[in-house]
Amino acid sequence: MKTSDMAIRPATPDDGAGIAEVRHNAIQNVPAAYYDQSTLDEWSGSGEGRTQKLLSNSADVRIVAVTDSEIVGYGELVTKENLLGACYVLSSAGGKGVGRAIVAELERIAREHGITYLQLESSLNAERFYLCCGYRITERAKHFMRGGSVMDCVKMHKDL
Ligand SMILES: CC(C)(COP(=O)(O)OP(=O)(O)OC[C@H]1O[C@@H](n2cnc3c(N)ncnc32)[C@H](O)[C@@H]1OP(=O)(O)O)[C@@H](O)C(=O)NCCC(=O)NCCS
Repeated sequence: MKTSDMAIRPATPDDGAGIAEVRHNAIQNVPAAYYDQSTLDEWSGSGEGRTQKLLSNSADVRIVAVTDSEIVGYGELVTKENLLGACYVLSSAGGKGVGRAIVAELERIAREHGITYLQLESSLNAERFYLCCGYRITERAKHFMRGGSVMDCVKMHKDL
């Protein structure tokens, strides 16, 4: 896949299953050096309710990166919290600029909403990615997942 073969557009309700697949695949391919398997399993979730849970969170902007044949990336914003809530790229499409393009589009949309800064909680594996996108670290922290597990994470900030 070349980045020129990829487009970014708003997500539609029909994209739910594809988005869930990208998210699950991206998380399950996080290198083992960062988190143990049980943490990845809880983060990715599984089973029937996965798509519904994903699309019923508080995000109000959802975008997908698509090629002709599939969804290869997903990103979301919670505008009222100045929050970049998610960025996931299919592992087979990784390292080709898809993540950077998703973040740039979320920032463009955020500016349209009058947002002057974004914050996020990065997983440890994505820290260097967000640094490359111009975010700075504000705090090393813990993220509490719904199932009760705790993940190390990095709080980051960028002025737009
Ligand atoms: C993190 C993630 C979104 C990156 O997506 P991607 O499409 O592979 O990233 P890009 O190809 O756009 O990379 C953009 C820049 O970040 C750098 N980068 C990306 N991932 C990196 C990594 N793991 N380590 C170091 N640098 C990285 C790239 O080298 C690139 O820099 P360059 O433009 O100067 O060459 C993707 O790996 C992913 O979905 N990971 C699993 C889920 C996850 O952790 N998401 C974040 C949740 S907070």
